[in-house]
Amino acid sequence: MPHPYVLLSAAVSLDGCLDDTGPGRLLLSGPADFDRVDEVRAESDAILVGAGTLRADNPRLLVNSAERRAARVAAGRPEYPLKVTVSGSGDLDPDANFWSTGGEKIVYTTDEGAAKAGDALRGLGVDVVSVGPDVDWLAVLTHLHDVRGVRRLMVEGGGRVHTQLLSQGLADELQLALAPLVVGEPDAPRLFGPGDYPGGPRNRLRLVETRPVGDVVLMRYVPTAPGTGTVPSAADHRWLALACELAAKCPPSRTAFSVGAVVVAADGTELARGYSRESDPVSHAEEAALAKIEPGDPRLPTATVYSSLEPCARRASRPAPCARLILDAGVRRVVTTWREPDTFVAGADGSGLLAAAGADVLVLPEYEADAKAPNRHLG
Ligand SMILES: NC(=O)c1ccc[n+]([C@@H]2O[C@H](COP(=O)([O-])OP(=O)(O)OC[C@H]3O[C@@H](n4cnc5c(N)ncnc54)[C@H](OP(=O)(O)O)[C@@H]3O)[C@@H](O)[C@H]2O)c1
Ligand SMILES: [Zn+2]
Repeated sequence: MPHPYVLLSAAVSLDGCLDDTGPGRLLLSGPADFDRVDEVRAESDAILVGAGTLRADNPRLLVNSAERRAARVAAGRPEYPLKVTVSGSGDLDPDANFWSTGGEKIVYTTDEGAAKAGDALRGLGVDVVSVGPDVDWLAVLTHLHDVRGVRRLMVEGGGRVHTQLLSQGLADELQLALAPLVVGEPDAPRLFGPGDYPGGPRNRLRLVETRPVGDVVLMRYVPTAPGTGTVPSAADHRWLALACELAAKCPPSRTAFSVGAVVVAADGTELARGYSRESDPVSHAEEAALAKIEPGDPRLPTATVYSSLEPCARRASRPAPCARLILDAGVRRVVTTWREPDTFVAGADGSGLLAAAGADVLVLPEYEADAKAPNRHLG
């Protein structure tokens, strides 16, 4: 179920607020940061805000720079990104700036909200899409990807929307502009509210950039916590992509696959990584990675093994195949992309072996080409 790259963007006060409680919008960023946001918008296929932000701020959500719009058009893209909002109630003001400015607009709502939104927005050329009795974010993201062709989605709030996307493991990146002011009000809207966030409070997002922009500081983070069971998180994609990159480091072989593997704790800590033939001429990636972890490490039972190729179920070179090594290490979650072909062993079914022992096996087929790339010579 592919969906767009989801970038959460917000400006926050030093006490974590998105706004104050007064009427009108509290300006947290300065001109330099608004220009940075304009650039991020111009790079996006769609921009999403919740209906609460439409009501509170009445935003236009445009690309303001004429040069950036011209560059979009020159690249064969629409002048403005698609504008997206989400509303359970369907209670939307047709006079809001959102509808009368920019390019195409779409509302995701519920069966109940669809009639109300359809009535309110009649004649405005807005696409009103019901995703069922509730607004399910996976359905929204899948529709944006499959039906509207959105590959890069910028989410500009508010707090309820950001909280759901991060806690459901659906955010690929977080861009925060930290503003040098304190709101100080107990009821001011917060960036993130209570929720069951992947990896819990011990999970640390990875900081990938900090940069002063005027008097605010831009911080970019990527999530690191694996998903649960067979439900993927955005970080699952990132770790699996890393496993595929590691496969390119394998010493070449005509008689064995080139595979990469990473073992990650539930809180997003990388425990080990490995690749085929890393430690000796016949070692496998999962074996090489697991060998670097102390047996009985208490993090193993809730860890995830990412492997570019499904762990092997049979193997001539060693007594235990990787599926068995993973189970013996106590790991019960495996994420992979490429099911083992019959090139070297007939009827290999590592996923079946793992699943029969109660492990969750998640296959993300979108990385299969990356996993196969270092193995092209094996035909
Ligand atoms: N500083 C910043 O960068 C920034 C950016 C944006 C917003 N803000 C601030 O954030 C505040 C607004 O935030 P907010 O949390 O109140 O609003 P929000 O997150 O923008 O929107 C919440 C609304 O979205 C709809 N919605 C979201 N998830 C849903 C779901 N799973 N199912 C059904 N409906 C869903 C609901 O609409 P219905 O009510 O129609 O059902 C809900 O009331 C404002 O004060 C604004 O100024 C700040
Ligand atoms: Zn193996």
